[in-house]
Amino acid sequence: MIAQAYSASGPSKRNLVIGLICVLVLFLLVINNNSLGVVSSGGASTSSKLSSSQEELINSRVKSEVEAALLSHMPQGGGSAKMASDNGLQVTELSESKRMRILVTGGAGFVGSHLVDRLMMAGHEVIVLDNFFTGRKKNVMHWVNHPNFQLISHDVVEPIMLEVDQIYHLACPASPPHYQYNPVKTIKTSTMGTLNMLGLAKRVKARILLTSTSEVYGDPEVHPQPETYWGNVNPIGPRACYDEGKRVAETMMYAYQKQSKVDVRVARIFNTFGPRMHPNDGRVVSNFIIQALQDKDITIYGNGEQTRSFQYVSDLVEGLIRLMNGDYDQPTNIGNPDEYTVNDFSKFIKELTRSSSKISHLEATADDPRKRKPDITVAKRELGWEPVVDVKTGLAKTIEYFAGVLDEGGEIVPTGPDASKPKGGGFSI
Ligand SMILES: NC(=O)c1ccc[n+]([C@@H]2O[C@H](COP(=O)([O-])OP(=O)(O)OC[C@H]3O[C@@H](n4cnc5c(N)ncnc54)[C@H](O)[C@@H]3O)[C@@H](O)[C@H]2O)c1
Repeated sequence: MIAQAYSASGPSKRNLVIGLICVLVLFLLVINNNSLGVVSSGGASTSSKLSSSQEELINSRVKSEVEAALLSHMPQGGGSAKMASDNGLQVTELSESKRMRILVTGGAGFVGSHLVDRLMMAGHEVIVLDNFFTGRKKNVMHWVNHPNFQLISHDVVEPIMLEVDQIYHLACPASPPHYQYNPVKTIKTSTMGTLNMLGLAKRVKARILLTSTSEVYGDPEVHPQPETYWGNVNPIGPRACYDEGKRVAETMMYAYQKQSKVDVRVARIFNTFGPRMHPNDGRVVSNFIIQALQDKDITIYGNGEQTRSFQYVSDLVEGLIRLMNGDYDQPTNIGNPDEYTVNDFSKFIKELTRSSSKISHLEATADDPRKRKPDITVAKRELGWEPVVDVKTGLAKTIEYFAGVLDEGGEIVPTGPDASKPKGGGFSI
């Protein structure tokens, strides 16, 4: 229309049209300005639309800042797919339906503390129950502030009421100097302690796993040892408090299964080593490493031709978890069949530590088994388990650990009359 008017008119009309266009442009500018003005004052509908997007932006920034502030003050593992801040271990976030409450008796000990690490990292609630006879708080200290973790100072010889889904029953001194220190207490721990845990399992319908031992085979006449071998144990020798204690604990497990339908698992553990072993536990691996690192004599009891098979602790923990969560309920050997004479093993450790130690021989200890090697056919077949850490790799980690312990604490006398005795609970008869 404007174009038509323009073409149809003379210069005066053209001026009029130009004027009209200017008025129109001015009008449009005023409207536009007006709307910009509303944005800044926040009154009109355009304004509320833009300011709500601004609000969203501001809110999201504030929210993420608050979240970051919260996370920075959260205890270990507090976020999602969490970092356990002090120990650096990742904790999986499990849904309520998948998260179990798991009791680990003896959880502050060597094996127990590694098992606790795995269960915590898998996102379960873990209750450690320990009397700290041979276990140490520092083994689990890195979980103490985590909301999924609880530490109870308690002796398994006394009953306890807890609500749990699974029980890993490890509480028992495991090395000869420790279990022979107070043999009556060792017997009570294995018998009354296991009875109490079975009573608890029965009450709350929890599955219970007992950490039994290759010691149930005694000084074996069958080699390697399958689970079907009944053993050769001296019932009145110095090792009997432990060996027979574990044998009767196994008997109780299957009596409760038969009579009370308790869901049981029994692991027969062979020699295990790794970081957090007690320096004074008197076992071959810790003794030899500590002696070699200090260039002291590596002491072998007897002629050293007795054999042992050693598994690294992470392999054991994997085996325990598979046994607990699988369907197989008969006793199962968990060990590494890689067999060494004690003589060869001492030379191996001397070489790995580049030690100048001499190797010396002491009098053989009573009832020391001549041969030890697990037959792990059952574990392979039923659990799909076998060790994956070779002895050399495991030893390197253990040597590094004990080197750190020596750096921190100075000289260690691992064995003999000058060795330090266990401290903590567990002395009452
Ligand atoms: N490490 C091995 O080579 C090996 C071999 C065979 C069997 N096992 C079995 O595995 C389990 C763990 O052995 P480990 O090497 O970690 O030994 P460990 O001595 O380091 O751990 C045992 C834990 O049980 C606790 N404990 C002992 N008596 C207790 C009681 N009455 N009440 C509460 N807590 C008690 C100790 O304080 C310690 O924390 C034991 O049952 C042991 O018999 C270990």
